[in-house]
Amino acid sequence: MQPLSDAYGRVATDLRVSLTDRCNLRCTYCMPEEGLDWLPLESQLTDDEVVRLITVAVERLGVREVRFTGGEPLVRRGLVDIVRRTAALEPRPETSLTTNALGLARTAAALAEAGLDRVNVSLDTIRSETFHEITRRDRFADVVAGLEAAQAAGLGPVKVNAVLLRGVNDDQAPDLLGWCLERGYELRFIEQMPLDAQHGWTREGMVTADEILAALEQHHVLVPAVEPRGSAPAELFLVDGGPATVGIIASVTRPFCGACDRVRLTADGQVRNCLFAREESDLRSAMRAGATDDELAQRWLTAMAGKLPGHGIDDPTFLQPDRPMSAIGG
Ligand code: 5AD
Ligand code: SF4
Repeated sequence: MQPLSDAYGRVATDLRVSLTDRCNLRCTYCMPEEGLDWLPLESQLTDDEVVRLITVAVERLGVREVRFTGGEPLVRRGLVDIVRRTAALEPRPETSLTTNALGLARTAAALAEAGLDRVNVSLDTIRSETFHEITRRDRFADVVAGLEAAQAAGLGPVKVNAVLLRGVNDDQAPDLLGWCLERGYELRFIEQMPLDAQHGWTREGMVTADEILAALEQHHVLVPAVEPRGSAPAELFLVDGGPATVGIIASVTRPFCGACDRVRLTADGQVRNCLFAREESDLRSAMRAGATDDELAQRWLTAMAGKLPGHGIDDPTFLQPDRPMSAIGG
């Protein structure tokens, strides 16, 4: 076993696997109304290919956590089978799913039975009209049903990820927190990052962690949770004395690159050592050309060794990655 280490002493143990770049919502901060030019299906990894690469990561490269993302991973037909085969690996990795929850009401039980441990549901508002405005689809009720089904199936603690957009839902942080507290969901706010396909992100448009905290503190007493932040990107706060917490993921204003333990695999089989990486390493072509597991592991190690120290969003030379978030995996 050789760990995925880089030149800055970081070791990647958390693998995020994008299973598709497609999605059934059109969040304005992610995609244009008409969607994107989806990856051709022949360049998407097959179920067997995905499982093979995950196996290499777990058995040879020390990956201990596998998160499935997209686009929207629930639109991937083989999802339950991929989860089952991943959860059966030794040593068994922790498995989770980052999803918009459309259709989760139908699949939560099957996912839990296949060995999925947890879900993170993306939900930016509890107002149906705002939901429509952000996602361009009228599906708020489906997300609520998905969340309930996930909790009932034992896919907890259920986490909710929210992005605040200026002038759209930036006045709704306390609402969302109250709603999540009532239901036992762990809410985390994520600062908007320059990863949208339309390149519409601006620093002024981004609602900062400080602003979010100030808004929440109008209604709640927040105390930093004592547990060390470690490599977890969320800074956790006890709400009104706890035990409930709220998290803030300040990727832009308080970057946590120095403690990053992540590595990403795109739906077309490219290793990315960072969300903001400008280079990828093509495991799909190597695999299809007959590479052995050993060779794939070597390529993966090389890809990680070149990981940069940080995302550099504040550098004047910062360039947004060529692929948007939906093609990289959140
Ligand atoms: N900045 C921050 N978060 C984003 N997400 C999607 N695009 C962005 C962005 N540009 C979130 C989604 C989901 C997770 C995968 O990432 O809302 O919760
Ligand atoms: Fe789909 Fe997630 Fe992008 Fe929204 S943010 S369009 S749910 S991939």
